[in-house]
Amino acid sequence: MKRAFITGITGQDGSYLAEFLLNKDYEVHGLIRRASTFNTDRIDHLYTDFHDPKARMYLHYGDLSVSGQLTDLLHDIKPDEIYHLGAQSHVRVSFDMPEYTGDITGLGTLRLLEAIRKTDIKTRFYQASSSEMFGSAPPPQNENTAFEPQSPYAAAKVFAYHMVKNYRNAYNIFACNGILFNHESPRRGETFVTRKITRAATRIKLGLQDKLYLGNLDAKRDWGFAGDFVEAMWLMLQQDEPNDYVIATGETHSVREFVEKVFQKIGLDYEKCVEIDPKYFRPTEVDILLGDPTRAKKELGWEPKVGFDELIDMMIEADMELARKEKMLLDAGYKNVNNRT
Ligand code: NAP
Ligand code: GDD
Repeated sequence: MKRAFITGITGQDGSYLAEFLLNKDYEVHGLIRRASTFNTDRIDHLYTDFHDPKARMYLHYGDLSVSGQLTDLLHDIKPDEIYHLGAQSHVRVSFDMPEYTGDITGLGTLRLLEAIRKTDIKTRFYQASSSEMFGSAPPPQNENTAFEPQSPYAAAKVFAYHMVKNYRNAYNIFACNGILFNHESPRRGETFVTRKITRAATRIKLGLQDKLYLGNLDAKRDWGFAGDFVEAMWLMLQQDEPNDYVIATGETHSVREFVEKVFQKIGLDYEKCVEIDPKYFRPTEVDILLGDPTRAKKELGWEPKVGFDELIDMMIEADMELARKEKMLLDAGYKNVNNRT
């Protein structure tokens, strides 16, 4: 039985990846942060109490800021594969918390690579690199496109990307950068734009809110489905040689197109509901991301399965169900606590 260690297992991608690896009969170990409220919603359906002999998923408290503990965990678990997904992953927030983002998103990767080097375990390492690193580089972007990062988040990811290449060359560690373009799902964090839109549109439809406040509607993104993208992570670590790969759909759409489509699908006019709030503008924006996944297709045999429309339908359906439950609770007299923007 192969053993995997996932940082960021409680996040969108971590939950899909844990599901994927458990289905492939892996023993899965995940790093989780101690919080005063539960932060394991996305993986609760996968959890079996560790006293049960059938348990195959184990969770370990820790933090990407603490190197000694990461080293101890790798020494104890000795994973065959490490998927490093943990990060402060919100671009807008990285302008508010640049130092923290550099520490966790940038140095966090170096801490793990150092833990591999010091423990000398035989393992394979996946780094969650990002299309955000391309920043203002003109599209289409592929593995040879020069990075022009436009945010503290992107700069931290560029640092991590280069550390992965350096440790691969200097210490012969099997380490890959997956340069993933935006990928979404019903499990997407509610402050990323796609989920913010599907959540608000469904709530507006059921009379739970009136307006949706957004920032720049002209930005364009190459949006895929997270469930498809985690398979590419795994495929990278099954190759004979480590390499870096762009993972994308090869299609781009504007935020305006996304919002218009969502509202149209549920029978609402977005222009009557959406207002622009400059609070959501970024000091420097990435105008257009459009990936060229030719290498992944050729070498990994990877292709996205879920298209743009299907992704939107999937997100609307899940959020409509959530809004219905919320409405039921409200009608039963519970207080509305679910109105985050
Ligand atoms: P996400 O939903 O925001 O999940 C981030 C994960 O990192 C969560 O499990 C979070 O734990 C954990 N984390 C944050 N700070 C940590 C710390 N100090 N110590 C330990 N764990 C910490 O992100 P995602 O969308 O799944 O993305 C996964 C990775 O891929 C991230 O590195 C992201 O930057 C990168 N990426 C994402 C996309 C995309 O479109 N989704 C595209 C390219 C690259 P809590 O649950 O406790 O907060
Ligand atoms: N979040 C957010 N909220 N974004 C908005 C809003 C809003 O109200 N209004 C417009 N946008 C625009 C942003 O300015 C950006 O151009 C675009 O919508 C997408 O924003 P996000 O959904 O926050 O994603 P992102 O592209 O900045 O970053 C995501 O993708 C990266 C890969 O390219 C994150 O998942 C990163 O972690 C990931 O690396």
